[in-house]
Amino acid sequence: MVILPIFYLIKARPPPPAKMKQLLFYCTLFVAILHCTKTSAQSPAPAPAGPTNISAILEKAGQYNTLLKLLSSTQVGDQINTQLNNSNQGMTLFAPPDNAFSNLKSGTLNSLNDQEKVALLQFHVLPTFLSISQFQTVSNPLRTQAGDASNGEFPLNVTTSGNQVNLTTGVDDAVVANTIYTDGQLAVYQVDKVLLPLNLFGPPAPAAAPKPEKGSAPSSSDAKDSPAKASSDSSDAMSLIRINAWAILAVLIVACSL
Ligand SMILES: *[C@@H]1O[C@H](CO)[C@@H](O)[C@H](O)[C@H]1NC(C)=O
Ligand SMILES: *[C@@H]1O[C@H](CO)[C@@H](O)[C@H](O)[C@H]1NC(C)=O
Ligand SMILES: *[C@@H]1O[C@H](CO)[C@@H](O)[C@H](O)[C@H]1NC(C)=O
Ligand SMILES: *[C@@H]1O[C@H](CO)[C@@H](O)[C@H](O)[C@H]1NC(C)=O
Repeated sequence: MVILPIFYLIKARPPPPAKMKQLLFYCTLFVAILHCTKTSAQSPAPAPAGPTNISAILEKAGQYNTLLKLLSSTQVGDQINTQLNNSNQGMTLFAPPDNAFSNLKSGTLNSLNDQEKVALLQFHVLPTFLSISQFQTVSNPLRTQAGDASNGEFPLNVTTSGNQVNLTTGVDDAVVANTIYTDGQLAVYQVDKVLLPLNLFGPPAPAAAPKPEKGSAPSSSDAKDSPAKASSDSSDAMSLIRINAWAILAVLIVACSL
């Protein structure tokens, strides 16, 4: 319906060849763009409308009621959503299901004040997106949203074997059991235990008295290395996506002009 009037226009008053070429070029471009928007509208994996909503993801996954309640009461859920919307580093969440919370020693959660509950949840959040394969190359300890990764505070270490990823906090060990959600920006992994940070659940202060260790200074610089590594990986992925998009556009333009 677009082509027809243009065809008559050309027939009625044949423009000079150079002008006609230009006209044809714009016509082709227009059709290609139309084609493009139509194709992407039909694509089977539409991006979720609006910003990512961690609560919606966990609700859909089911069996995360305790975690959902905590994310809401501490407002860490909102923090995650805002941070996801504003950062290009992405995020990773370790999500313990309801049975992991019910397996805790009774009174464990009630022993924490509000600020400690926030820290417990933030300990389950990494300020970078990590795919399962990226866990094989991160440096220990990981930096979590809870803060200081040094011993006695909030260290979280990873051990991997193939695609199996284990986490250790110095208090308990957890296995990454399942990928609940991943979109290249946010990864949500099911873990079989609540991750208990040393700072909140470790031995009482006198037992953890500062023993100057050679390992502690380099480990904090390791922690600074890991987000940089992850971000360069994810920006590689972004540029791949961009290249692909341009390749598709180029193919469409060529195809439409034939
Ligand atoms: C996120 O999802 C939850 C659960 O579906 C909903 O209650 C909440 O209003 C949503 N938040 C936003 C900002 O859309
Ligand atoms: C997400 O970010 C955009 C652009 O920075 C901003 O306009 C929008 O208000 C943000 N939305 C939320 C829910 O934070
Ligand atoms: C992870 O933990 C499980 C259960 O504790 C153990 O069987 C497995 O060997 C561990 N794997 C790695 C890579 O540490
Ligand atoms: C975590 O790894 C660091 C660096 O390898 C090590 O110094 C620290 O003891 C480990 N902590 C735990 C709890 O495994």
